[in-house]
Amino acid sequence: MHLPELHFIGKVHSDIHNTKDAPKFHAESDRTGTLEIYPQYQDGLKGIAVGQTIVVLCWFHQADRNALQVYPRGDKSKGLRGVFATRSPMRPNPIAISELKVLAVDGCRIEVSGLDILHGTPIVDIKNIPS
Ligand SMILES: C[S@@+](CC[C@H](N)C(=O)[O-])C[C@H]1O[C@@H](n2cnc3c(N)ncnc32)[C@H](O)[C@@H]1O
Repeated sequence: MHLPELHFIGKVHSDIHNTKDAPKFHAESDRTGTLEIYPQYQDGLKGIAVGQTIVVLCWFHQADRNALQVYPRGDKSKGLRGVFATRSPMRPNPIAISELKVLAVDGCRIEVSGLDILHGTPIVDIKNIPS
């Protein structure tokens, strides 16, 4: 099947510069940062409000795309598990899903908390959580 091209809509600005320093999961993180959305996509942000939680899909550009099995959270005592049975960043298509709280919206910039995402990570999509 023909693979459609992905167009990144923006990138993450955070103070998380390496995986060792990164929270393991968004629900365990209080780290804040900014989603910079490129100007051609700004119209798509209408309706995003302070206080809501958004689902942010990122392309984990530094992930190992060859691994098919991992030790969840690096814990060898639990044994190997297939990547599709985990939330590991390692996977053939390194798409991550983080639920982030909106702290402020200013034009093309969304300040968020809950980051488990490295600085410079490309953003693929943003969705709301239906109420
Ligand atoms: C376990 S993943 C979970 C990501 C997302 N919340 C999910 O469930 O899909 C979070 C880890 O991915 C790693 N990570 C974050 N940004 C990355 C990037 N751009 N490339 C590779 N690994 C990254 C960090 O080590 C972080 O602790």
